[in-house]
Amino acid sequence: MARQKTIFVCQNCGYKAPKWLGRCPDCSTWNSFVEELTEIGQQDKPRRQPLLDKPQRIDKVTLNKEVRKKTGLSEFDRTLGGGVVPGSLVLIGGDPGIGKSTLILQVVQRLAQQGHRVLYISGEESVQQIKMRAQRISADSSELYLLSGTCLEDVIARVDELAPQIIVIDSIQTIFTESLSSSPGSIGQVREVTSMLMNLAKSSGRAIFLIGHVTKDGAIAGPKVLEHSVDTVLYFEGDGSHIYRILRAVKNRYGPTNEIGVFEMMDNGLHEVGNPSKIFLEERAEDVSGSIVISCMEGSRPILVEIQALVCSSSLAMPRRTTIGVDPNRVSLLAAVLAKRGGVNLSDKDIFINVAGGIKIVEPAIDLGIISTTASSFLNKSIARNTVTFGEVGLSGEVRGVSQTELRLKEAVKLGFSRCLLSKKSIKTLKRKTDIELIGVSSVMELLDVLF
Ligand code: TYD
Ligand code: MG
Repeated sequence: MARQKTIFVCQNCGYKAPKWLGRCPDCSTWNSFVEELTEIGQQDKPRRQPLLDKPQRIDKVTLNKEVRKKTGLSEFDRTLGGGVVPGSLVLIGGDPGIGKSTLILQVVQRLAQQGHRVLYISGEESVQQIKMRAQRISADSSELYLLSGTCLEDVIARVDELAPQIIVIDSIQTIFTESLSSSPGSIGQVREVTSMLMNLAKSSGRAIFLIGHVTKDGAIAGPKVLEHSVDTVLYFEGDGSHIYRILRAVKNRYGPTNEIGVFEMMDNGLHEVGNPSKIFLEERAEDVSGSIVISCMEGSRPILVEIQALVCSSSLAMPRRTTIGVDPNRVSLLAAVLAKRGGVNLSDKDIFINVAGGIKIVEPAIDLGIISTTASSFLNKSIARNTVTFGEVGLSGEVRGVSQTELRLKEAVKLGFSRCLLSKKSIKTLKRKTDIELIGVSSVMELLDVLF
């Protein structure tokens, strides 16, 4: 067998060096060397693997029916696309302290209760510490095994002895392989460990959950480096000051992406939030200016959220556009549309936009909401509380339809809203009658006329 050794490769141009260099002598990039495995004598030959399979006709390819394991935590199952797929490698990323370990412990506890053997490997905490957390969330199952360790080769040996069906690695940044000399958490280590775990998952049919901390600087490799090499990427987000946490699928080889699950962090672990719209609207203030509710789609599910705006005089040469939960560039663009097409001059005003509840919204259906609240705060006139809206706004001030009109309206009716502002085209696409008054608007001007 060929002996293995490691070399350092520039990630920018592919230059190879026997030891780590701060700057690539070839392309002059700083900090671009990553340790990689290579076979002695093979450095310069491309690694070629013989292709054994013959091309197959697409209609002759047979599918194995995948049997998903449902965890019973429905918000989690939905985000994964219907349950855990055997042989899949799932990465759960998130800020330190957001609740990743808690979530995964609750998930595997439920799987263990159903009789699936689970091995939870932690490189961060001792077995006693995990047990303490497990007590808080009352996880106590005879099929749940804990192991504290950081060397991947040891871990794989234990996996072979115990033969678990589900494996958890908490976290990828603390596990290392002996074949590389770089420190745990470096890009080379994180990549190599992930690819070894991927092989383990695929060859044995075991589902593996990997936990990864998101880091701001590049010193410790974060989940971003791994996104392409795993099957599913889930992000656990939310800010520490709110109790709500959102699990979002950003990549999924086995299901839809952009699906979200909503949880509440309590004293005894995470609890599912079955009706997120209700909690996001719970603490809405009475008749104030600069507030409206929009109906937005998160994956396959409509959610109602409140958008708040505060427009006030600015003392700065370049007024501020500060946002929480929406893209600030989108807000600048909509402020320009509002000024040009709606005659609302915001050039000497600071604009602050906030999505209540700590959720992030990326879909364009939020545009009508941002325009309405901004105008409302500028004019200091409140919008009737029973009003909900959704729709995209273009640069010429036209209001456009968005997908899933019926689902969005249904959610609004369910939560007691009685008036909806949307594009005229969306109204035309409706097949059924709804119990909500529909007001079609085709431009920003029309919207302002209807509202104020
Ligand atoms: P943890 O799962 O350790 O976070 P991560 O693995 O993402 O770093 O949990 C972090 C926080 O959650 C911690 O500050 C304590 C809090 N927490 C609760 O509020 N309730 C609970 O039941 C548990 C287990 C943790
Ligand atoms: Mg943790």
